[in-house]
Amino acid sequence: MEIDRRAFIGSLGGVAAVQAMSPNARAEALEHYMIEQLNSSEGINEEDNATLPFYDPERPVPRGTGRLFAENKNLKPMPAKPTLVDFFELRFAPARHVLQSAARAIKTGQPERTVLACLLHDTVLSLIKPDHGWWGAQLYEPYVDERVSWGIRYHQALRFFPDPEVGYEYPDFYNRIFGKDYEPDAHLQAAHKKARDHKWYMEARLITMNDEYSFDREAKVSIEPFIDIIGRHFKQPAEGLGGDDSPSSHMWRTIANPNRPL
Ligand SMILES: [Fe+2]
Ligand SMILES: [Fe+2]
Repeated sequence: MEIDRRAFIGSLGGVAAVQAMSPNARAEALEHYMIEQLNSSEGINEEDNATLPFYDPERPVPRGTGRLFAENKNLKPMPAKPTLVDFFELRFAPARHVLQSAARAIKTGQPERTVLACLLHDTVLSLIKPDHGWWGAQLYEPYVDERVSWGIRYHQALRFFPDPEVGYEYPDFYNRIFGKDYEPDAHLQAAHKKARDHKWYMEARLITMNDEYSFDREAKVSIEPFIDIIGRHFKQPAEGLGGDDSPSSHMWRTIANPNRPL
């Protein structure tokens, strides 16, 4: 994807604001910016455009918050017992980045567990951006194989660390925008080290290897091809996500109704 450097810096509040951010925060902001750009690309139907808070440089959401907190009074109501697919269609949509990443995981021959991890890995960005690996892992932990949420937790840190042995290179666009001289924050270095020595390392590494930012206006993305995988690997609660009293039910309720005052 081509990045408009000036538009990106503008979206963060200008050069001074960018200089005040830590290099790691800048790199993460760039990644989120690219996801927003993907989501605001053409190929989205008019109804979605009218109701979903796409990235708008004139009216950015406060830094760190997800698109659900953009000024928007028109979020569609959720069904009484919402499923994961409902959340994809009504809150995460268009979710192009994760749908493309999951499609790539299928294309590269990954097992269904990894396809699911790719499908879910960045969805929590609709809610919150800092430390999204950890937030995302907690959101999904009660409903997926432990290896899936483990992979989601550590993918965030692994993005910053190349692994030539498996063909994962440091993202070139980080170099282009921020220069070559920055180091990830200490907690990310520690998380990388911990993941590197863990028997489930590849669960997280494969998510980073299937991260897909390509900007293909023709590509139609849909949750449809993944519904069977969700059915087999996601423990959908009968009460609906948010009504099930799991350790992350409150997060699902917040995603469903981000505008509640308390
Ligand atoms: Fe991510
Ligand atoms: Fe990603």
